[in-house]
Amino acid sequence: MSTFLMTVFSHLLAVSIAILGLYWLIKLREGVAFTSHVKIQIFNISLIINMHPLLTVLEFIIFLGDAIIIYKGIPATRQTLKLIHLMLHLIALLAGILGIYAVFKFHNELKAGHAYTLHSWIGLATICLFGLQLLLGIVTFLFPGAKSATRATFAPWHIFTGVGIVFMAIVTAETGLMEEFMFQK
Ligand code: HEM
Ligand code: HEM
Repeated sequence: MSTFLMTVFSHLLAVSIAILGLYWLIKLREGVAFTSHVKIQIFNISLIINMHPLLTVLEFIIFLGDAIIIYKGIPATRQTLKLIHLMLHLIALLAGILGIYAVFKFHNELKAGHAYTLHSWIGLATICLFGLQLLLGIVTFLFPGAKSATRATFAPWHIFTGVGIVFMAIVTAETGLMEEFMFQK
């Protein structure tokens, strides 16, 4: 399959994930919000927890996926690709921080503890590695930037750990989904 068709196909998948996710959270569940004035306690809390899958999936599946795909999918100069790659990662980071904030807020309001499931530990590890990768990527490729020989040695490791983070994100999302369905029963 040509690169163009692969790029179109992967974007169609991303759009379907976004549409199905929003339909699930807004139509089949109660909706999403960071705060809610609805008086019924449990309903109020569900709006906040619903923000979590929405934002983390946007972060790790849609923006992170796109940040990586652009290297193969867009015909642009390396400098432009690097900047788009960085911008999409920064948007992903912002969505991720808000997504984690939502679930911590939810646990605080429930007066439940934190990080008591496998999902939460894989999730925390994934987001920490993501932050580290972002920092190393900026320092090596952008500012102050390493010498070109060092960059060439670092690039395969950057790609290897980047793909590793994507796999960890998929495992996190799958375990999170499983938990969500267990809690609903
Ligand atoms: C893909 C990126 C994701 C990351 C990085 C992530 C991360 C986390 C973290 C760190 C916690 C623990 C918060 C705390 O201890 O207070 C948590 C909790 C939770 N997450 Fe996720 N999550 C992700 C995706 C999802 C998805 C897609 C769902 C459901 C569809 C989900 C459902 C839940 C639920 C129900 C909890 C509360 C129970 C628990 O602490 O395990 N998560 N998540
Ligand atoms: C968490 C953040 C990051 C992840 C997960 C990540 C992941 C990846 C992946 C998987 C590739 C391979 C793409 C391909 O060739 O098809 C790549 C390439 C690249 N990334 Fe990142 N990246 C991150 C952050 C950054 C940052 C902050 C920069 C600096 C601006 C950067 C600069 C680059 C460059 C220059 C390449 C091309 C390497 C080469 O082929 O020589 N990355 N990244």
